[in-house]
Amino acid sequence: MKTLITNIEMVDALGRRPGKVLIEDGEIKKIYKEKESVETDFDEEINGGGHVLLPGFIDMHCHLRDPGFEYKETMETGMKAAIKGGYTSLVAMANTNPIIDNSDDLLKNRDKAVGLNLCQLIQVSALTKNFGEDDTVDFDSLRPLTNVFSNDGVSILNEDIMKKGLEASTVHDFILLTHCQPETTLVKRDVALLEKLGGHLHICHISKKDTLEAIRLAKDKGLDISCEVTPHHVFASAMDFKVNPPFRTDPDRLALIQGIKAGIIDMCGTDHAPHSEEDKKNGAPGINNFEIAFPMYYTVFSQNGISLEKLSEMLSDAPAKRLGLKTGLIKEGYPADLVLVDLNWEGKINPEDFISKSKNNPFGEELLKGKILMTIVKGNVKYDDYRSTL
Ligand code: DOR
Ligand code: ZN
Repeated sequence: MKTLITNIEMVDALGRRPGKVLIEDGEIKKIYKEKESVETDFDEEINGGGHVLLPGFIDMHCHLRDPGFEYKETMETGMKAAIKGGYTSLVAMANTNPIIDNSDDLLKNRDKAVGLNLCQLIQVSALTKNFGEDDTVDFDSLRPLTNVFSNDGVSILNEDIMKKGLEASTVHDFILLTHCQPETTLVKRDVALLEKLGGHLHICHISKKDTLEAIRLAKDKGLDISCEVTPHHVFASAMDFKVNPPFRTDPDRLALIQGIKAGIIDMCGTDHAPHSEEDKKNGAPGINNFEIAFPMYYTVFSQNGISLEKLSEMLSDAPAKRLGLKTGLIKEGYPADLVLVDLNWEGKINPEDFISKSKNNPFGEELLKGKILMTIVKGNVKYDDYRSTL
């Protein structure tokens, strides 16, 4: 099956160029320059309508709730929501029920994702058994199945556990993702441990100016550290909506935007955390982000003069590189994970229209820019806004 995408401008971390993309057997087979003629035949043409084609987004941080909390989201509703939002690969956290802390449960989720055939799942394993403070997980059996370990949702307050996690990240060559509350205090502690012990550290959802400074210092020292932001922390401040870490002050939010410009922040995640209406009423922290993340980020980036190339780097290339995935760029030989976006679209996104099973997002009244028109996963059109294929 050969598909030719025409009438597009390609944008990714490498730059911006008009042209055409030939997809064959799920891969980007050839990229044509704007005026270059296409000699080969093809089965199908997708006319991009003059819109922008980006690499599929890779979410370094989401919660799919499956197994155990299917009333909030299932892997299927979560992945469909993600695809509608332009995501082609998802790093799903381990705070399900049971917690994913052993190879059997991890394999079950991996198989479920393969069976759904929607987008790629990178399933996180817990760092400790049942997120407790006694034992770390069995790295020998889990490491062949995943290269990301995290107790996200829960901070690692026990310093010994953090030391073990960092040491294991070197020995077993994985990335340790941490949820830090109190944020700056724990990030500073972990940076000091990283300097002393080595390791591969990724700080989830950073939200404070002082945290940024701690990470900048760590990067200056050449430590292996990366970090992500969320759409809500860069879009808004001081909101009365429960999320962990909480909404911060406007100076914090502005510092995050400066941190993006300065290259201190590596990635744009979602922290997609669906909850039922009742759970939210009872105080559950979390925000439903897949279907609104790109417009929120694009709105903030364009308002602050940050390029779409930079946004693509943070949505796709940087997470791909960090995870060791060959994707995240529009490049010959890469998987055809692609998103077509209408950057001129302006409007509101009503959470009631989410495909996600839950609707917990407070930004339905915001005027946002940028709409996902089509999402292609490994050469297959999985979402088409015109036909609403999901
Ligand atoms: O707001 C949050 N919700 N932050 C987290 O770290 C966990 C997440 C969840 O699982 O609901
Ligand atoms: Zn978290």
